Amino acid sequence: MTRPTHRAWLLALMLTMGSTVALAQLPFMRNMHTGPVVMPQVDTRAPVENTIAVDGDWLRDRLESQNIPNPVPNTPEARAEGAQMYDVYCAVCHGATGQGDGQIADHFTRMPSLALPYVQDYTDGWIYAIIREGGRSMPPFAHSMSVSERWSLVHYVKTFEVATTP
Ligand code: HEC
Repeated sequence: MTRPTHRAWLLALMLTMGSTVALAQLPFMRNMHTGPVVMPQVDTRAPVENTIAVDGDWLRDRLESQNIPNPVPNTPEARAEGAQMYDVYCAVCHGATGQGDGQIADHFTRMPSLALPYVQDYTDGWIYAIIREGGRSMPPFAHSMSVSERWSLVHYVKTFEVATTP
């Protein structure tokens, strides 16, 4: 049986060794305190060299986006690209010519026609934000198209006209 004095020595030895490992900052003892580490609540680490800053306004919704001018010139090429996007992403709901009569339109309580005057009166930025963020039932398309594809699509949406029965 270990005598109490032996136990005290053993405890003292363990404590000394343990704290030596934890506190020693000898050059050969690399631990988390000595790396290129910024301790919590102290500062942020400097960004990696050549990091590109992303700043500027963060436009969150239609109200904040409504006055952005369309940066893509309204050319036949842009409208053709927009038409391609529309056929892929929008026609299934809003219909091939934007009349609100796509194949799955009946599954929604309201499938707006994009040819109606009030939609055609929306600013480019407003339509752009709808495409990017979606709506109550409409899905967002922020990740499906590039920024310029979305702006081209806005030009194309602005070509819709209410169908007139002959
Ligand atoms: C899954 C069906 C669906 C798809 C796909 C879809 N939309 Fe919509 N969209 C809707 C619905 C439903 C609304 C009505 C508002 C709501 O409930 O979100 C709407 C509203 C809109 C509006 C506003 C109309 C209004 O009455 O104010 C625009 C503009 C629009 N969509 C354009 C597009 C474009 C452009 C695309 C293709 C990128 C697209 N939508 C894809 C379902 C869809």
